[in-house]
Amino acid sequence: MKVSKALEKLLNEQIRNEYESAYIYLGMSVYLMSTPYTGFAQWMHLQAKEEIEHGNKILSHLGERAATVKLLPIAAPKIDYSSPLEVFKAALEHEELVTKWICNIYKQAVKDEDYTSQCFLKWFIDEQVEEEEQTRYFVERLSLAGKDSATLLFLDKEAGKRSE
Ligand code: FEO
Repeated sequence: MKVSKALEKLLNEQIRNEYESAYIYLGMSVYLMSTPYTGFAQWMHLQAKEEIEHGNKILSHLGERAATVKLLPIAAPKIDYSSPLEVFKAALEHEELVTKWICNIYKQAVKDEDYTSQCFLKWFIDEQVEEEEQTRYFVERLSLAGKDSATLLFLDKEAGKRSE
């Protein structure tokens, strides 16, 4: 079954969104690198790498389905933040937006009765639960930590343990 033109458009936009997410997280990582929080910087750098993998996954899928792949332009990211909490709050907000985009693409696949795309998108729907949860984890803990430097450094060390 061919991917409908409407779904192809949404998936191409999502390729852009995933690569743009990588850029957004790299922007956060660049800011964090300018602070003592090297663990959070490392965490965001790894998150950026994951987003590139997400984009690649959709790109490969479109290729396998003989659909047209477009590489749409991505915007320059923000790099001026004021604290790790502001960074993680912005990251959580962004992930909630990504979840909405993914669900909207799924809605189109249901409309098209495209079961192949629905199965493919299921991975992204599941992934978004983890994406939101792992970001919310630090929003909640950084909020509790406030300006307590010992706790902030403890959380930073924890973030730095993230592996690929
Ligand atoms: Fe690819 Fe963080 O969503």
